[in-house]
Amino acid sequence: MHDADLDVYLHDSDRIAALRADARAGLTSTPKWLPPKYFYDARGSELFEQITRLPEYYPTRAERSILDTRAASIATITGAKTLVELGSGSSEKTRLLLDALREHGTLGAFIPLDVSAVALREAVTALHHDYPDLHVRGVVADFVEHLDLLPHAGGRLVAFLGGTIGNFTPQDRAPFLSDLRAQLDTGEWFLLGADLVKDPAVLVPAYDDAQGVTAEFNRNVLRVLNASLDADFDPSSFTHVALWDPDREWIEMRLRSTRAQTVRLPALDLAVRFAEGEEMRTEVSAKFRPEGLRQELAEAGFSLRHWWTDDAARFGVALATAA
Ligand code: AVJ
Repeated sequence: MHDADLDVYLHDSDRIAALRADARAGLTSTPKWLPPKYFYDARGSELFEQITRLPEYYPTRAERSILDTRAASIATITGAKTLVELGSGSSEKTRLLLDALREHGTLGAFIPLDVSAVALREAVTALHHDYPDLHVRGVVADFVEHLDLLPHAGGRLVAFLGGTIGNFTPQDRAPFLSDLRAQLDTGEWFLLGADLVKDPAVLVPAYDDAQGVTAEFNRNVLRVLNASLDADFDPSSFTHVALWDPDREWIEMRLRSTRAQTVRLPALDLAVRFAEGEEMRTEVSAKFRPEGLRQELAEAGFSLRHWWTDDAARFGVALATAA
């Protein structure tokens, strides 16, 4: 395929500028933090794919079972002409929606949006091959910054799957949902996958698996900083921490420095000291209650029309309309 099939709004130079600003802000804060979006270079994306296949990591399977059961209903209810997917990655689960919408006969276009041009190019190539008469146009963009660039087709269904909404803090969720609503015409649709509050004995192992894949995924952000900012993090001197915060109802991943050390980031002209045992936050993954999600959607101008969970009520999929 050619890049005629990709609209690129986010360039390597933008990505580096954002990483520099975020790394400086996070590494000079107390406590230190890094944003989760930098996990996903080629190696990080591959590690995440491995995570989705782990016995402990239920969200991907639970969401897939919901889409399996409900895709036909989603197609009938929405009659979508264009499917837009935010943070599409490999667009693998989305095929359940694509198949159902095509069966229903309304779908003309699929617009996957992702920060990774590499992942998108691969996904678009595969989709062209498997759905030769579907109009597929990848958008390389950050779904927080570039929502206003969503193509203005009519009859859109915007899917935001996988529980990635949980990576926002509650303060960041509200403007994201409102901004998305503002881009849609009344009556267009939003399909949202959200992981649910449950027993920490189930939640914590999903983020701290026995094989240590999540630990490698977590440490990968240090490799990304090494590669992009010429930093000298020693990933082996940081251990993986996953904990459940019962008040904020989110899983928090951290990296704990096993020794006192100074990390140098020459690209930022920065030296960062870590005390022995110091923990740096690398991700929050918020978990939801159905009523809370309905209310947050309503506050953003979405009206919840359908709510589905898997058999074990571990994961939820909300179908809402722009009110
Ligand atoms: C891709 C953001 C949904 O929060 O469950 C998996 C990322 N982090 N294991 C999640 C993740 C650790 C995942 N999301």
